[in-house]
Amino acid sequence: MDLPALTGKICLVTGATSGIGLETAVNLAKAGALVAITARDEAKGRKCVEEIKGRSGAARVDLLLCDFTSQESTRKLASQVLANYPALHILVNNAGTVYAQRELTTEGIEKTFAVNHLGYFLLTNLLLERIVASAPSRIVNVASTGHHQGTMDFDDLNFERGYSTLKAYGRSKLANVLFTSELARRLEGKNVLVNCLHPGVVATNIWSHASFWAQPFLAIAKLFFVTPAQGAETITYLAASPEIEGQSGGYYVQCKPARTSRLARDEAVAKRLWDVSLKLTGLGPPA
Ligand SMILES: NC(=O)c1ccc[n+]([C@@H]2O[C@H](COP(=O)([O-])OP(=O)(O)OC[C@H]3O[C@@H](n4cnc5c(N)ncnc54)[C@H](OP(=O)(O)O)[C@@H]3O)[C@@H](O)[C@H]2O)c1
Repeated sequence: MDLPALTGKICLVTGATSGIGLETAVNLAKAGALVAITARDEAKGRKCVEEIKGRSGAARVDLLLCDFTSQESTRKLASQVLANYPALHILVNNAGTVYAQRELTTEGIEKTFAVNHLGYFLLTNLLLERIVASAPSRIVNVASTGHHQGTMDFDDLNFERGYSTLKAYGRSKLANVLFTSELARRLEGKNVLVNCLHPGVVATNIWSHASFWAQPFLAIAKLFFVTPAQGAETITYLAASPEIEGQSGGYYVQCKPARTSRLARDEAVAKRLWDVSLKLTGLGPPA
């Protein structure tokens, strides 16, 4: 993909220690951006920084630590970004996972929803003023085609009833699409593009968190998955391609706008999710 030179642009890619995030960081660094990545584990993060530098030729790639199961950790990450970077031109919310069993964060929130949705929501909102001040800027939310299976039961966001890995994942990815469209509406006229995407079915580490019984099937299925580099193409496109200039609030597959689920297009659900997320992250009462 031909990217414009990103010299002077500052980018943050979350969850860039493997898979799609790592490849996206390489692409953005190769185009000349100053890239900061997040990792949970410092040693793993340092190794990835060296890999990104080696593969992109970038002299500098920064490492920031964050575990998105903790809102305190997310707030610390945001403070470090605000303290260390005068601007933020591209934010890629990518860190995501699945849980074989239902688990809760210290805040008492089901972890898939906490990491995959509230992680994006809290970090973006904490950085939003800086992103707006850095316009033209972009926010890319890595969602999934799994959002089509997602439901949004506001009376049981924590899956106290009927948890399954796929249901929780589908809900969190539906939340990514709803968050994208609501944020795009709120940022209209500010020259900040917000888009989300499905990267394809990609052979990454995320599958290793699936249930034990699913692993033999996945080992075979993985042979047909696309590579992380292919998975990173649509993210990179939305982060930097001039082709999407002026387009915000969209959902993309293979670098093309794609149809979302009926629920994902429901503005009332998006608005309600926004308000609930404000409350769950302690960002304040609904505006
Ligand atoms: N693979 C696919 O087929 C597929 C399809 C649709 C959407 N996606 C989405 O693509 C994104 C990236 O996933 P991937 O497939 O590249 O998987 P991956 O290789 O497992 O990478 C996930 C990244 O997120 C990080 N992460 C996970 N939990 C975290 C937490 N609690 N706090 C901070 N970072 C955390 C991981 O860090 P560690 O290295 O510390 O684990 C890693 O850097 C996710 O949002 C996923 O939902 C993937």
